[in-house]
Amino acid sequence: MNVSEAVAYRRSVRGFLDKPVDVDVVKDIIARSARAANGGNVQPWHVDLVHGESMVRLKELMRGKMAEGPPKEETEYNIYPPELKKPYTDRRFEVGQMLYEAIGIRREDKMGRMMWFSRNFQFFNAPVALFLTLDRQMGPPQWGDAGMMLQNIMLLLCEAGLDSCAQECWAVYPKTIGAFLGTPDDRILWTGMSIGYKDPNDPANALLPNRAPASEWMIEHS
Ligand SMILES: Cc1cc2nc3c(=O)[nH]c(=O)nc-3n(C[C@H](O)[C@H](O)[C@H](O)COP(=O)(O)O)c2cc1C
Repeated sequence: MNVSEAVAYRRSVRGFLDKPVDVDVVKDIIARSARAANGGNVQPWHVDLVHGESMVRLKELMRGKMAEGPPKEETEYNIYPPELKKPYTDRRFEVGQMLYEAIGIRREDKMGRMMWFSRNFQFFNAPVALFLTLDRQMGPPQWGDAGMMLQNIMLLLCEAGLDSCAQECWAVYPKTIGAFLGTPDDRILWTGMSIGYKDPNDPANALLPNRAPASEWMIEHS
């Protein structure tokens, strides 16, 4: 798989097989992903890798949280801007529509949507996951750097025949995850990521979100 192929292939997978993953492969990918360009070579990322017994414990913990109802923890950053504007709102709405269509849940079925969304907190059945945290001192440029590192991870996973889904939804449980991982107080949890082998029969994996044509967001100055 060359870079173009990996970029074209990568997509968010939301249904994984019960197939074990060689964690050494994932560890090697994470280590290599740190070749990402990053301002001042500050390397602002911190990664926690979860698998095996820890994964079993985390999934169990999250089953308990789901049973308690909506999260009671305060999120530490806005996952989306509070007043997200058009066209961004439209794009977000469209991908949600496409996902719930793919999995056969009607838009009005709020409970069905919530139940399905909670699969996020079982990592969509993935056997391996990571969490990315940053020092609270870091700002937008360093969060951007961490994003480049995450993209490297996702592309290298594709090359290794693995799939992933980045998951900011974990940001609604910062205390739970911080305590589980033993994250120091001076770090903020940005995102989780499910890692595993894609279940080709899971209808959620039929989703192929659109992208706005480059003419909507690229201006050529010649
Ligand atoms: C940082 C980040 C966090 C994300 N968080 C979630 C999430 O919590 N749950 C989820 O189902 N998808 C999540 N996604 C996946 C996006 O919804 C997805 O990337 C987008 O719809 C485009 O689809 P694609 O990745 O298949 O191209 C996240 C993606 C990124 C980059």
